[in-house]
Amino acid sequence: MQTDFLVIGSGIAGLTYALKVAQQCPDKSVMVLTKTQSDETNTKYAQGGIAGVMDTDHDSFEKHIEDTLIAGDGLCNRHIVEIVVREGVERIEEIIEWGARFDKESDGDYKLGKEGGHSEFRILHHKDVTGKEMERALLASLAKQKNIQLISHCFVLDLITQHHLGFLVTKSTPDIECYGVYVLNLASNKIEKILSKITLLATGGNGQVYRSTTNPSIATGDGVAMVYRAKGRIENMEFIQFHPTALYEPGIRGQNFLITEAVRGDGGILRNHAGEAFMEKYDKRKDLAPRDIVARAIDNEMKVAGTENVFLDCRHFNKEKFIEHFPNIYEKCLSIGIDISKAMIPVAPAAHYSCGGIKTDEYGQTSIKNLYAAGECASTGLHGANRLASNSLLEAMVFAHRSYLDAVKHIGEVSFNPGIPDWKADGTNHPKEMILITQSVKELKLLMSDYVGIVRNNERLSRAMKRLDLLYEETESLYQKTVVSPQLCELRNMITVAYLIVKCAGFRQESRGLHFNTDYPGKSDRVQNIVL
Ligand code: FAD
Ligand code: SIN
Repeated sequence: MQTDFLVIGSGIAGLTYALKVAQQCPDKSVMVLTKTQSDETNTKYAQGGIAGVMDTDHDSFEKHIEDTLIAGDGLCNRHIVEIVVREGVERIEEIIEWGARFDKESDGDYKLGKEGGHSEFRILHHKDVTGKEMERALLASLAKQKNIQLISHCFVLDLITQHHLGFLVTKSTPDIECYGVYVLNLASNKIEKILSKITLLATGGNGQVYRSTTNPSIATGDGVAMVYRAKGRIENMEFIQFHPTALYEPGIRGQNFLITEAVRGDGGILRNHAGEAFMEKYDKRKDLAPRDIVARAIDNEMKVAGTENVFLDCRHFNKEKFIEHFPNIYEKCLSIGIDISKAMIPVAPAAHYSCGGIKTDEYGQTSIKNLYAAGECASTGLHGANRLASNSLLEAMVFAHRSYLDAVKHIGEVSFNPGIPDWKADGTNHPKEMILITQSVKELKLLMSDYVGIVRNNERLSRAMKRLDLLYEETESLYQKTVVSPQLCELRNMITVAYLIVKCAGFRQESRGLHFNTDYPGKSDRVQNIVL
């Protein structure tokens, strides 16, 4: 198979880019691959909304830029922040034209929400299911575009580069090029090669590396792992954002239901088991301090009291208003016996977002030629050491757009590489025992949660690395002799991503934003990105 534009991922970044290149180049082919159902993405689960300066009477680009820089704790790239904030409004208007609906006041103005770290009300939302609405609108627009082929249940295994032509490729090889990908087509159970002129990685996040996460099961960091294997550049992986308020349900592991920060934006109050509203002890912005601060405060409260959760108190809300804004959360809580007007919601932090990722320039170009990256898998410089709430959907659309601008400019200069060999599966057998994979996944999640969570230190990081080395050796040996499966490939990718998180965390000898190491509690004067 071959296609002019190849897109890996059907979340907001992949779909936005695919629509744009397809509309701009109707004579070119566009192929979108996704590893499960087309809408099973982090995007679909986004709740709070998308930040944008829509109310210019009260808000301004400067305020949004400043809030983003403050949350990023000194590590944002100011130029990129300005690009995203200023261009973001046009991207929001575009998705509205494609059919996404955001809640409005009775006078027709958009209802704007507020979340941690925002100085103004600037978050557009569709009740508490914003991502689902945006994904719906994008997929509906995509279905009308004749030159896009969307293939679901197609697992991308690896990027094809000079390495597959028999050349030695290292980190210092100049001009590494991407010629396409090898995929495991789950419909035919065959490994196929797909050649492309230009490829966009939009593979999303990696929350599944942790035991508790708000991310769905697809979020295993595949794109980052593929780029690392292909010797591309990866940046700032230590900055894993833990969302302060995932619903605490004992025994639920895998994907934890989120209680959007917008609930605190509307007045929700965090309380410990003694009923104390504890956030005022930690930050003058209280419950609406940036996420790193709130998550660490909750972690501390839980450790001091020896509990596994704190509470979010919404009992003082007008019940009808709560249901109008948060119908999904209301129903979910009710389904587990919590009426939010009578009882507090048990919550605990959970891995939520990867601020680092595949290093890109201001047009989404990675360090590998003809390979772009956008969305959560990319590290653009916007988030620095901590992402401002609701900036992620915005960033994904802005960089999908910028990647599209650059890709259509260059597509005419690129041709298919005809010499790519087929995938070699000689000497591999079907796995005898899935336990060899499932047990390693459990071990990985446990060690990352216990040693590389919200609070870190050198001893924990060194222990984590030793255990990862063992998991890596065992998994590579299994991979060499086993017929590939999504489970095995995801394990392999998650081990790579975990290694990158620990490695970057080890290099960062300071505490900044989301990375808190008790051996280096202060910030270093040297502000640096960690690039591997
Ligand atoms: P995704 O939407 O995650 O899409 C990834 C795609 O890549 C999927 O289609 C997947 O199948 C595909 N893929 C991955 N690996 C492979 C492979 N090997 N082969 C083939 N396909 C592959 N951000 C905000 O700005 N506002 C919010 O309110 C908000 N709320 C959130 C709530 C939750 C519960 C979560 C989890 C996240 C939230 N975020 C929010 C973050 C935001 O939703 C994500 O960062 C964003 O949607 C990521 O979009 P994406 O296009 O990069 O990736
Ligand atoms: C939320 O709704 O709390 C999540 C928002 C985000 O991750 O940006």
